[in-house]
Amino acid sequence: MQSKNPKESRTILTDLVLPSETNPLNNLFGGELLARMDRAASIAARRHSRRIVVTASVNHVAFNKAIPVGSVVTVEAAVSRAFKSSMEIYIDVWVEDRESGKRTKANEAIYTFVAVDETGTPVIVPALDPETQLEKDRFQAALRRKQLSLVLAGKMKPNDATELKALFTE
Ligand SMILES: CC(C)(COP(=O)(O)OP(=O)(O)OC[C@H]1O[C@@H](n2cnc3c(N)ncnc32)[C@H](O)[C@@H]1OP(=O)(O)O)[C@@H](O)C(=O)NCCC(=O)NCCS
Repeated sequence: MQSKNPKESRTILTDLVLPSETNPLNNLFGGELLARMDRAASIAARRHSRRIVVTASVNHVAFNKAIPVGSVVTVEAAVSRAFKSSMEIYIDVWVEDRESGKRTKANEAIYTFVAVDETGTPVIVPALDPETQLEKDRFQAALRRKQLSLVLAGKMKPNDATELKALFTE
C-alpha cells in the first residue's frame, strides 16, 4: 500500500459563527467547535484511507481563545500519523480579522480515527510520510499520544508504553 503525505488529507472548512451557536458571553459554544473539528478530521481521515472512518478518541482539545459571534473561523485538519488502522488527525483552528484579513490561531485539537469495513472491523491504512518540519514534529510525538490515549482508555498497560515512559525518565 503506497504511503501518502499530509497534504493529501488536508481539509479546510471555513464558516461563520452565528448567534445560535454561541454561549451566554456571545462566544462560540465549545460543543459546536468540537463538531466542526470532528467533521474536518473525519474528511481528512477519509481522504487518507479512502475507507469508512469512525472517531475513536479525542486526545486533546485546547480552547485557548474565545471566538466571538460573527467571526470567520477556519478549521484545518490533516493526518499527522497513520498506524495500522488508526490515524491521528491534528486540527488547527484559525480566526480571521475582519479588517486586515490576518489569521490568528485560536485553538487546536487532536483526534484519533479508525478505518473500518462495512461490518465495523478495523482495516489497514496507508502509512504517512511527513514532509515539513512541523509535520515531522507532529509525526514524532504521535506515538506517545497514542500510548497515552490507550493507557487512559484502559487498553494498554502503562508499563508497555515505552516511548511515553521515556518522556519522564530522559
Ligand atoms: C474505534 C473502534 C473501531 C476500535 O475498535 P477496537 O475493537 O478497539 O479495535 P482494535 O483494538 O483493533 O483497535 C483498532 C485501532 O484503534 C486504536 N484505538 C482503539 N481505541 C483507541 C483509543 N482510545 N485511543 C487511540 N487509539 C485507539 C487501536 O490502537 C488500534 O490502532 P492500530 O490498528 O492503528 O494499531 C471501536 O471501538 C468503535 O467502533 N467505536 C465506536 C466509534 C464511533 O461510533 N465513533 C463515533 C462516536 S459516537
